[in-house]
Amino acid sequence: MSHLVAPSILAGDFANLRTDIEMLNTSEADWIHVDIMDGVFVPNISFGFLVLEAINKLTSKPLDVHLMIIKPDRYISRFKKAGASNLIVHLEACVHLHRTIQAIKQEGMHAGVALNPHTSVNNLEDIIQDIDQVLIMSVNPGFGGQKFIEHTYRKVEYVRNLILKSDSKALIGVDGGVDSSNALKLIELGADVLVAGSSIFRSDNPIKTIAALKAL
Ligand code: DX5
Ligand code: ZN
Repeated sequence: MSHLVAPSILAGDFANLRTDIEMLNTSEADWIHVDIMDGVFVPNISFGFLVLEAINKLTSKPLDVHLMIIKPDRYISRFKKAGASNLIVHLEACVHLHRTIQAIKQEGMHAGVALNPHTSVNNLEDIIQDIDQVLIMSVNPGFGGQKFIEHTYRKVEYVRNLILKSDSKALIGVDGGVDSSNALKLIELGADVLVAGSSIFRSDNPIKTIAALKAL
């Protein structure tokens, strides 16, 4: 499988979301990454269901919804209704992660697990066979535009090996500070999904930037 590119709409212009989504529709973006922050799990608040629904009405691209919220179980069916295709929860936010994963799948969504930079990838050993995506955070979640943490490379390698030796079809996503300086190495080490916000939306030509990330 060739890798996927998932632009993070957090870096878009929220006064002109329609323009940004229409731009993504004409691009080679595979998914649209949507960051939901609750001000508790992370020190920032982004937006909720209404904005997600509005985005969903403007695109047929799958929405890759990254929940940076505590107790995500409360809202799984609401995120499905709002248009999520993939629902990613944080390992650090789930006491009964296996149950949460099953609930996401029962709603007909792909289930993903995100790991903060300090969280060891060893924690995936007993859940990897049940999930559709691992999202390795390469910045501390909460804000766009941060610097890529180099240690991420080793985590990608570890998860790739874990997937190879287990009965898992999980995709490996990397989220935070992804740009042309690190994307190729991430793919070579086994990343399947590049999530990128600032490097796409702050570039002179986002459509070309997406195409360049796809062409790696
Ligand atoms: C960080 C978010 C990321 C962020 C990526 O909390 O989960 O998805 O939007 O943005 P950049 O690419 O600017 O680091
Ligand atoms: Zn994200």
